[in-house]
Amino acid sequence: MTYGADGHFSALIDRIESELLPGLSVASERLHEPVVVHRLPKPWKLVGAGNYAVVVSHPDYPRLVIKIYAPGRPGLQEEAEVYRRLGRHPAYSECYHYGGSYLVLRRLEGVTLYDCVRKGIPIPRRVIDDIDEALAYAAARGLRPHDVHGKNVMMKEGRGMVVDVSDFLKTDECRMWSDLKKAYERFYLRVPLLHRIPVPDFVMDAVRRGYRAVKKRGESC
Ligand SMILES: Nc1ncnc2c1ncn2[C@@H]1O[C@H](COP(=O)(O)OP(=O)(O)O)[C@@H](O)[C@H]1O
Ligand SMILES: [Mg+2]
Repeated sequence: MTYGADGHFSALIDRIESELLPGLSVASERLHEPVVVHRLPKPWKLVGAGNYAVVVSHPDYPRLVIKIYAPGRPGLQEEAEVYRRLGRHPAYSECYHYGGSYLVLRRLEGVTLYDCVRKGIPIPRRVIDDIDEALAYAAARGLRPHDVHGKNVMMKEGRGMVVDVSDFLKTDECRMWSDLKKAYERFYLRVPLLHRIPVPDFVMDAVRRGYRAVKKRGESC
């Protein structure tokens, strides 16, 4: 851990516990849809929302983010354990501290691959290879990559990263990453228009829901 007992860091923990958590209102309204933020105290900023948690930052701590689990959503201890096992790796964040409902993580700069497609930002193959390598690294540490989909992987300056490792202790098989890679090779690379034309949200949502529906018939993930 780079961050420890220094005053700046303990001031952050104080702010999280005395300002952020009491003022924050989030709800996980639907099981397979992102958590919704109803209230976020100033000057905290929303960085992203997943199906379990919201991720926020504070302007005084630009290199960190706080991931707060929605009430009733399990998995925080497991996520901290995954980070402990991963140690330091350029394609992963790190967990510097965690409390009852939140983790303090290293901020990964970049854009999710989901947003790359939404915004028409080209995704080079190197990004896919970096993520493959990072997942092999996790597997070598006894973890099982799980739930690796477009919103959980990011790209910065042509390099790939994995932003969400919360399910890597699960033991059931998950084909999301191999399905995403197949889609990249068989579809994305063959349709150059996709590399620069934004794809509307309703199409992205339809693909996401369609994928879930197909998977529900067959597998657990
Ligand atoms: N370490 C991080 N650095 C920067 N952004 C992050 C980080 N962790 C998460 N995010 C952003 O927040 C979003 C939700 O976080 P995620 O860990 O995927 O939550 P969930 O476990 O609910 O799916 C991600 O899609 C990403 O945009
Ligand atoms: Mg996620």
